[in-house]
Amino acid sequence: MWRHDAVVYQVYPRSFQDSDGDGIGDLRGIERRLDHLSWLGVDALWLSPIHPSPLADMGYDVADYTAVDPAYGTLADFDSLVAAAEERGLRVIMDFVGCHTSIEHPWFREHPDRYIWSDRDGPRNNWVATFGGSAWSPDPHGRGWYLHSFYPEQPDLDWRNPDVVRAMREVMRFWLDRGVAGFRLDAIDRLVKDACFRDDPPASAPFALPLPEEYARLEHLYSVNSPDIRAALAELRAEAGDAQLTGEVYLPAAQLAPYLESLDAAFGFELFHSPWERSALAAAVAAGAGLERQGRTATAWALSNHDFPRLATRLGEENVRAAAVLLLTLPGTAFVYQGEEIGMLDGPGAEPPFDRAGRDGARHPMQWDDGPNGGFSAGEPWLPAVDPGARNVAAQRDDPASLVSLYRELIALRRELQGPLELVDADDGVLAYRRGDHLIAINLTAEERSPPPHGEVLCGTDSGGGRLAAHAALVALE
Ligand code: NOJ
Repeated sequence: MWRHDAVVYQVYPRSFQDSDGDGIGDLRGIERRLDHLSWLGVDALWLSPIHPSPLADMGYDVADYTAVDPAYGTLADFDSLVAAAEERGLRVIMDFVGCHTSIEHPWFREHPDRYIWSDRDGPRNNWVATFGGSAWSPDPHGRGWYLHSFYPEQPDLDWRNPDVVRAMREVMRFWLDRGVAGFRLDAIDRLVKDACFRDDPPASAPFALPLPEEYARLEHLYSVNSPDIRAALAELRAEAGDAQLTGEVYLPAAQLAPYLESLDAAFGFELFHSPWERSALAAAVAAGAGLERQGRTATAWALSNHDFPRLATRLGEENVRAAAVLLLTLPGTAFVYQGEEIGMLDGPGAEPPFDRAGRDGARHPMQWDDGPNGGFSAGEPWLPAVDPGARNVAAQRDDPASLVSLYRELIALRRELQGPLELVDADDGVLAYRRGDHLIAINLTAEERSPPPHGEVLCGTDSGGGRLAAHAALVALE
């Protein structure tokens, strides 16, 4: 059974560990580094896509769902990774990219009925793709216009077609049979669209979460989040049995209920994107902590991933310790993106960029030591190392005051945090909450503050004399 307070470590396979010197991370490399995950004390690892892909969206354009891209290894390497993880008590979660395939997936040529087509020689409606432009593009094979919620190289599957549901259930079964413990469901709120393809109206108010500029001009009433999603999700649940299903649902907590009928958890994107100030953070924490499925908190908390700037870049290096305390003391599942535990900063990316939407910065290689390429690769890394001399796992592991030691301490302490979350009144600029008999206080400001009254401090990032230093946070007994 999945722990109610599980910690999942997100591995971005291309950038975690290269084992053969080609500059690209791979499955054998991940296996070699599993000790780091055991040492941290996490429960599971989530692998971003490892399938063959033309890389228009760095693997989120899948060309074969039941194979491993040779750059990452073989199915035998995958089996070996799962077995090695299991030996350490670690579970493996895969990315399930169900909304779209790659335009190079054989289905697109051989089974056009599995995709969504315009009824005219041009866009069927005004829907806009997430990264800009019309969501409709002309088919290179001359069969009309097809729908794509993301890049044109990612045609959307038609989940109203039972054949798609059957084929994708088979994909899930394939990986479950290989020992996978669950899936992170990519872009799952786009799985089913309006049956009548009505135009999305112009946005009359800003959406609750950040959106790319052109995409934000419409209110996505019909292109995403159809009420008919329930049936598709129920099919996925039926196949998954009691495997863990975590949805990437890019909606505020108030709209997640239909998803949680079938999924164990959905990401808490309000917290992910919250400004670093009390009222917004408190609202996001309360909304996410209030979501339940079968008596368990159903929010998967994350503060970073491969799609957005890293914590140190976004919040400032001075806030990464407090962010770790926040992420790892909330009820529910916590997702830690690789490299956050050593405070990695965004890198410069590549020129020309690998990702046209500008997300290379958060995808630079993991920094294991201060050797060449930070120990990531003996070859030329696909993206350069950012600053392994300034921060790396080896140096921080030996230092009890380091960020990686704090992550480890918090993950261990998390097991003792029982009970629901209750917000507590506190000084201006201090976010405080109770979990059972524990109190958590986070100073969001650059000035010293007073924490609420508390007993023994179990874990503190930089406070003393009953005060909470600037940017400090603590976990204490009440
Ligand atoms: C969300 C993934 O995290 C992102 O990297 C990708 O571009 C989109 N979904 C489309 O698959």
